[in-house]
Amino acid sequence: MPTTDIGLDKTLAALGVTKPDEVALRFAKVRVHFQAHFQTVQSESEWKLFRDSWLGRKSGVLTQITDNWLKPATPELKRAVGACLNELRAHVESHIDARRVAIESGAEEAALARERVDLSLPGVIHPIGSHHLIRQVLQEVEDIFFSIGFSIVEGPEIETPYYNFEALNIPEFHPVRDDMDTFYIDLPKGAATPLLLRTHTSPMQIRTMEKRKPPVRVIVPGKVYRRDNPDATHSFMFHQVEGLAVDTDITFCDFTGTIEYFVKQFFGAGVKTRFRPSYFPFTEPSVEFDVSCIFCGGSGTAAGGGTCSKCKGAGWIELFGAGMVDPAVYGFVNYDAKKVSGFAFGMGIDRLAMLKYGIDDIQAFFQNDVRFLKQFP
Ligand code: FA5
Repeated sequence: MPTTDIGLDKTLAALGVTKPDEVALRFAKVRVHFQAHFQTVQSESEWKLFRDSWLGRKSGVLTQITDNWLKPATPELKRAVGACLNELRAHVESHIDARRVAIESGAEEAALARERVDLSLPGVIHPIGSHHLIRQVLQEVEDIFFSIGFSIVEGPEIETPYYNFEALNIPEFHPVRDDMDTFYIDLPKGAATPLLLRTHTSPMQIRTMEKRKPPVRVIVPGKVYRRDNPDATHSFMFHQVEGLAVDTDITFCDFTGTIEYFVKQFFGAGVKTRFRPSYFPFTEPSVEFDVSCIFCGGSGTAAGGGTCSKCKGAGWIELFGAGMVDPAVYGFVNYDAKKVSGFAFGMGIDRLAMLKYGIDDIQAFFQNDVRFLKQFP
């Protein structure tokens, strides 16, 4: 706020002031000026400027009055100037202080208002997620096998051809490799062995038997990969649970009993099961295991008439491959094939989930549409 119009830069003599009452008039003008300035001060930064412009030692208004009015004043005026200046100083100082207190408490109130928590507002909802249906089914399968003494092992998704094929009695150029074509990893030239994405969880049969002596009773949940074209029942990445039980006296009856126990626990007592002869190079004999179609009750006929689209009229749905461990496999892990016997199975978890929950497209598991996922909290 300019202060030149009140003549601070001039002496009283230059301003034509010669009598004490004229001095009082001059000071009254200064006070009016101060009041006007005082009204404009609202913030802390404005207050600082205000304080310095009035109380600043070098060029504040009070310093200017001291230097230009008081010091050069004639002896007759000095008393009056001194008295007026003291009054003005007291007024200025008390007002400046009061303004600071007011600004500080105003700022505090504003901050309090800003930071106030309104407890009546509705809370912020952080929805809790849930396990994916595949995870839930894996858990169910694991719990059933836990209850009959199996433990869980896990293994690498990136495998060598040795574990994925050769040690499972699938030599190079064996026709079974056609069904299990997979993705190979790009490796630098001269790498010791090619690496691939495992096509099944069966390599863990070998890795487990390499590490443990019989008795062995494990299940192996995990992801597997194949160069399969996606359709309603095929995906290039899916989930399997491998099972392996090897001991000195395991029979085909133990095998069928274990599988039937699992299926009845998983699908309920009403489901019918059957074994069909099949072929896997690492089991002998080998079987496919079917359950009666849960969609048509095993009749092969859809509810509204016509052929059941899920089992294609057969009344049975294939669940997994299995069999008694082929003695040739024991040769790869230094087990004595004359002393031990066992069974193995490998089930597709995605297919199990589809059957149990009536899902007709495997792709629904991987599209992650929340409308689908929310149906399985
Ligand atoms: C095997 O993978 C054998 N390793 C199973 C086995 C283990 C046999 C131990 C004997 C002893 P198969 O290729 O049939 O077998 O696959 C097993 C299951 O995986 C199938 O029954 C099916 O449920 C599921 N499956 C196979 N391919 C796909 C795919 N592309 N998408 C989804 N599920 C699949």
